[in-house]
Amino acid sequence: MPRDFFDFTPKQQKVVMVVMTAGCPQSGVLALLGGATRCFLGRHLQGYSLLDYGRSLMSDCYNFTFDWFSNNVPVWINLLGHLAGKPGVRFLEIGVYEGRSTIWLLENILAHETSSVDCVDHFIPFSAPWYPPGVSTNYEERFDQNIQLACGEKKVRKIKGFSQEILWKLPPSSYDGIYVDGSHDAPDVLEDAVVSFKLLKPGGILIFDDYEWNAYSDPWRLPRIAVDAFLHVYRHRYDLLHKSYQVALRKK
Ligand SMILES: C[S@@+](CC[C@H](N)C(=O)[O-])C[C@H]1O[C@@H](n2cnc3c(N)ncnc32)[C@H](O)[C@@H]1O
Repeated sequence: MPRDFFDFTPKQQKVVMVVMTAGCPQSGVLALLGGATRCFLGRHLQGYSLLDYGRSLMSDCYNFTFDWFSNNVPVWINLLGHLAGKPGVRFLEIGVYEGRSTIWLLENILAHETSSVDCVDHFIPFSAPWYPPGVSTNYEERFDQNIQLACGEKKVRKIKGFSQEILWKLPPSSYDGIYVDGSHDAPDVLEDAVVSFKLLKPGGILIFDDYEWNAYSDPWRLPRIAVDAFLHVYRHRYDLLHKSYQVALRKK
C-alpha cells in the first residue's frame, strides 16, 4: 500500500482526488460520488499522508463566513496535542457557530473513532455584519452541513439551547477538554466556567476565548472580569497553562 499521495499512479491520484472532493458544494462530482464514499475512504486511509492531502482539498469545501479560530491553532496544539488520536477522548464546546473549531478538533485531536464532542449552542439566527448578500442568517444549517462534510455526524452531539441551562444537565467529571466560547457577558462566562469545571475530569483542560477582547467599555459585557474572578476563587484547584488572548488551565 503506498504511504504517500505521490506514490500512487496518476490514475489512482485522479480517483482519490475525485473521491475526496465528493460532497464539496463547489464540485461537480457531487452527483457522481456521495459524501459517504469519501468518509469510507477517509476512514480506511487513517495514518496515511494521503488523508492529509484529502483534508487540504476539503478545506475549501466548508461553508464558513467568519474565522474566530485559526489564530488559536499553535496554542491549541500545545494544550491538546497529548490527546491527539487517543481513544475515548471527550470534548465539550460551548458556542460552536458554523463549526470551525469543532472541525479542527475532529481532524486534529478527536481522530480516533471512539472520541467525540458535545456541541452546545442556542443557534438563534442573526444578521451578522460580515454576511455577504444572500447568505442565510441560519448558521445552524451551515454547522450541520460542515459537520457532514467532515464526516463527523457520529462523533458530534449537537445540544441546542443556552449553555446556562444545558451545562447543569451534563455528567460531572466526564470531559477531557472544554472550550468556553459562547455568551461573552461576564455573568454568563462565570457560570459557564464554574459549571464547566465540575464537568471536567481531573487532568482535563479548560480553555476560555477572548480574555483580552475589549469591544465594549462596559466590563460586564466582556469575559475578562469573569475569568479573573474564576481564576482567583479556584486558584488551588488548577495549574495555569496559558494566559494571553486565550486562557487555559488543567484541573488538578
Ligand atoms: C464566537 S461564536 C463561536 C465560534 C466557534 N467556537 C469557533 O471558534 O468557530 C459564539 C457562539 O456562541 C453562541 N452563544 C452565544 N451565547 C450563548 C449561550 N448563552 N448559550 C449557548 N450558545 C451561545 C452563539 O450562537 C455563537 O454561535
